[in-house]
Amino acid sequence: MIAFDGVSVLAPDGTPIVADVTLRLGERRVALIGANGSGKTTLARCVNGLTLPTRGSVTVGHRDTRTDRRAVQRDVGFVFQDSDAQIVAPTPAEDVALGIRARGASRREADRAARAALQALGLGDQANQAVHTLSGGERQLVALAGVLVMEPAWVVLDEPTSALDLVNRRRVVDAVEAMAPRAVIVSHDLDHVRGLDRAVLLDGGRVVADGDPADVVDAYVARVGA
Ligand SMILES: Nc1ncnc2c1ncn2[C@@H]1O[C@H](COP(=O)(O)OP(=O)(O)O)[C@@H](O)[C@H]1O
Ligand SMILES: [Mg+2]
Repeated sequence: MIAFDGVSVLAPDGTPIVADVTLRLGERRVALIGANGSGKTTLARCVNGLTLPTRGSVTVGHRDTRTDRRAVQRDVGFVFQDSDAQIVAPTPAEDVALGIRARGASRREADRAARAALQALGLGDQANQAVHTLSGGERQLVALAGVLVMEPAWVVLDEPTSALDLVNRRRVVDAVEAMAPRAVIVSHDLDHVRGLDRAVLLDGGRVVADGDPADVVDAYVARVGA
């Protein structure tokens, strides 16, 4: 269970970016939706302590992100919106191995686990390919493999399908659906969102709708007047 209790995040000038959010998230796939600037990324970053609340608390299981950040970050992986910012090694196999190496695995163990994680996402043949020659969708999947190989209980994904063509979008949507950890998914991909277990709509940093994704998406579309 991820619990937000009275969470506010203020910008340095005191403007609320997230305003008094209280939520209990336990579903397998939860979407965070809302217009640009509504606070989705900031709220998502609070889940694993990348951002700490100015007021209130965030806990994952019984661990508070403020007092137990390292343990929380083992439980919650984060896939950034920009996969280029997440991938640091020249090839997928080397990149996905980094996290497990840092955890103390031998080079050989890490390489085996990295290749298995890539294979599971359909990237077995690209394991040694130069990262810059992969498609955007493949890079997004490499970033996801690098998180999944650490076997977190939760994964937070920030707009995993934005900027992808239909084929790559499908690959990412299917990979996210099939993966073992629970997930919080920030998305503008309303078709994807409709297929998830729960959706939370943010507006101005506040939760303005929460529940069945079909209903929450309809509420969002109605508010936007689209
Ligand atoms: N560190 C920061 N300092 C000042 N303003 C910020 C900071 N982080 C985010 N913001 C502002 O807060 C608002 C919400 O940002 P964000 O959480 O990225 O929204 P979203 O992901 O929904 O687009 C935006 O207007 C953004 O410019
Ligand atoms: Mg964002």
